[in-house]
Amino acid sequence: MDRDFENENNDILPFKTSSSKDKAAAKIWVTASGKGGVGKTFVSSSLGITLSKLGHSVVIVDLDLSGANIHTVMGVKPSHMNIRHYFEGVKTLQELVIPTQHSNLSYVQGFWDSWSPIDFTMEQIQALIPQLHGLRADYVIVDLGAGALEPHLELFKAADEKFLVTSPEPTSIEKTYRFIEAFVCHTLKQDSTPESYGNMISTLRSHRQRTLGKPFSFRSFLKEETGLNYDFFESLTAKPVRLIVNSCRYQNHSELGYGIKSVCNKYYDLSIDFAGAIDFDNAVWQSVKGREHVLFAQPFTGLAGQFLTTCKQLIDPEELRAVV
Ligand SMILES: Nc1ncnc2c1ncn2[C@@H]1O[C@H](COP(=O)(O)OP(=O)(O)OP(=O)(O)O)[C@@H](O)[C@H]1O
Ligand SMILES: [Mg+2]
Repeated sequence: MDRDFENENNDILPFKTSSSKDKAAAKIWVTASGKGGVGKTFVSSSLGITLSKLGHSVVIVDLDLSGANIHTVMGVKPSHMNIRHYFEGVKTLQELVIPTQHSNLSYVQGFWDSWSPIDFTMEQIQALIPQLHGLRADYVIVDLGAGALEPHLELFKAADEKFLVTSPEPTSIEKTYRFIEAFVCHTLKQDSTPESYGNMISTLRSHRQRTLGKPFSFRSFLKEETGLNYDFFESLTAKPVRLIVNSCRYQNHSELGYGIKSVCNKYYDLSIDFAGAIDFDNAVWQSVKGREHVLFAQPFTGLAGQFLTTCKQLIDPEELRAVV
């Protein structure tokens, strides 16, 4: 059923019903990074816009617990209704969905009142996941804050598609590897007792100190040194972490993703996917200043093509709809 919705200017906007109503659960795409400021919010918003242009209904959920930015890149003022109302039990997540002026595209406002933080329990985050799947949309894009915090890792783990954004800078690349290691450990932690996890971490630490710089297989390590369940490596191959290298200025930046992929293979025995290189373009931040997302302000640029290529690779071909 259609319903009306109020935006931050108190205008009544029509709520755009999902084409997937009464269909399958919304697919969750999560965007994370080891380092801050590398372009997660730009990538999340761009993936969402691209999917919406392909005819899919999209809700972008701003879950940057340190301060919301999705509304900023979408060119709208922060709404008084935000994700805090969900966590405080005042509203359902669906009730917080705010339509945009663009068809198929809505968002959930994140915390802008970060002077009053909420300490999330793992239970709250786990309870959020079915709510995200239950949103009336084909795709729910979750924009996280920076770093390998437990809530981030938990949401990343639950995602149908996991995007890890890095810039080509060494500081960001280093934190990308740390994020991947933290993600592996987080997943193992949940499959183990605190005691066996503690033993595994101390064995891992001394093993890595002995073998630093040499190829290392998480999989073999777990098999040989501990009694832990290592089956999740199979699911990681089926649903790999997808790396996006953002803000590429040179050809060698664009190729960096292949290097990171092969390091993960060689040093962790982990398969990740290089999902795309995105150019650095001054139009990105200029369009934020101009309060219109670059993919709307300049829809036919190389940047738009790069996001289109990434999205098309990940959408079921049967779901590809001819729009754009
Ligand atoms: N491809 C790009 N070309 C040019 N500028 C970019 C590009 N991607 C992002 N930016 C700019 O870089 C800055 C940081 O981007 P963004 O806010 O998306 O990063 P973030 O990872 O979400 O940051 P945070 O960790 O604070 O949430 C912004 O000013 C944005 O406009
Ligand atoms: Mg951000």
